[in-house]
Amino acid sequence: MTQLPGLLDTEALRKDFPILDRVIHDGKKLVYLDNAATSQKPRQVLDALSEYYERYNANVHRGVHVLAEEATALYEGARDKVAGFINAPSRDEVIFTKNASESLNLVANMLGWADEPYRVDAETEIVITEMEHHSNIVPWQLLSQRTGAKLKWFGLTDDGRLDLSNIDEIITEKTKIVSFVLVSNILGTVNPVEAIVRRAQQVGALVCIDASQAAPHMPLDVQALQADFVAFTGHKMCGPTGIGVLWGRQELLEDLPPFLGGGEMIETVSMHSSTYAPAPHKFEAGTPPIAQAVGLGAAIDYLDAIGMDKILAHEHALTEYAVKKLGEVPDLRIIGPTTAEDRGAAISFTLGDIHPHDVGQVLDEQGIAVRVGHHCARPVCLRYGIPATTRASFYLYSTPSEIDALVEGLEHVRNFFG
Ligand code: ALA
Repeated sequence: MTQLPGLLDTEALRKDFPILDRVIHDGKKLVYLDNAATSQKPRQVLDALSEYYERYNANVHRGVHVLAEEATALYEGARDKVAGFINAPSRDEVIFTKNASESLNLVANMLGWADEPYRVDAETEIVITEMEHHSNIVPWQLLSQRTGAKLKWFGLTDDGRLDLSNIDEIITEKTKIVSFVLVSNILGTVNPVEAIVRRAQQVGALVCIDASQAAPHMPLDVQALQADFVAFTGHKMCGPTGIGVLWGRQELLEDLPPFLGGGEMIETVSMHSSTYAPAPHKFEAGTPPIAQAVGLGAAIDYLDAIGMDKILAHEHALTEYAVKKLGEVPDLRIIGPTTAEDRGAAISFTLGDIHPHDVGQVLDEQGIAVRVGHHCARPVCLRYGIPATTRASFYLYSTPSEIDALVEGLEHVRNFFG
């Protein structure tokens, strides 16, 4: 078996993930390389979910009975864990949402309904990038259409990086918000946060970072990032689906208006008007995703016990190996950086003129799960003149043998399509 420096003990770790033992298609061992779409869940998270429902299930913040108090303590305990995981100065800066898309929509709507100095209107500009996931494009398009604000974006270089050569023309005195992805889900590019934040701060613009493909894979420190908002999702980091996070700076969360109204986000309600609870509850209307938050807390315990720096080193070693091995496959073109230094563990590629859906299907027949398509980042495919890509993405339990299996699988694809 190929050994690389910096790898985790995957033999031991994989025992925590029952699904990785699955055998599919008449005896093919599952090779799960679709981790950027969603990660698998360790037994520890599955147990926390069933234990929650078996022992503690109740609504939170509402009851005086034992179960309600225990459920509330677990839910709020998960908030503490998230705050620790991202080095938030205060637990009250952690808002639970349904997913990263909801977190980003929440920011766009807070700013759309805000008073000065935060309000986005026809006199102002919104800045994103061409490598965003649709969840960091469409909410800003909606806001731009509603308010008349101008939507601008950074383009991409041929090698899959942000083109910041015109940063002073893109981010101007009119910019209200700059929202960009930390690690691209399609290109794998890790973006230069510091340069963008520095320019945004010069002109007094807010900064929102989509950390969906970063939080599962590297240490995340919201204070070091110096952003105003950071969004991510639980299901890509060993947690369940249905739970996302928006971190926001406290004074902003105090000043900005809520988006969704309903139970538990209020202070008082009369038939004429309402006042709101302090953040984060102001932004969590209705019954929240309680079990999912508890599951995310268990996922954070799991990741912390391994160590995010060790997970980063593991994925870096795998990515370096994969970039090299994929580079040796004839007709394969990596879409995105071809060096492992400034990229994450999602690698998109095309294989000659074989359609990615065909590539994905032949790989699937060999038990290899990858994602094919535009990966909810269609402007990237348009930029590089391709209809779609095949994407392999790794996580803490991925192994060099799985990369070998992918490379072998691609040989089958090439033979199959002549
Ligand atoms: N955003 C997820 C992906 O990139 C679903 O696959």
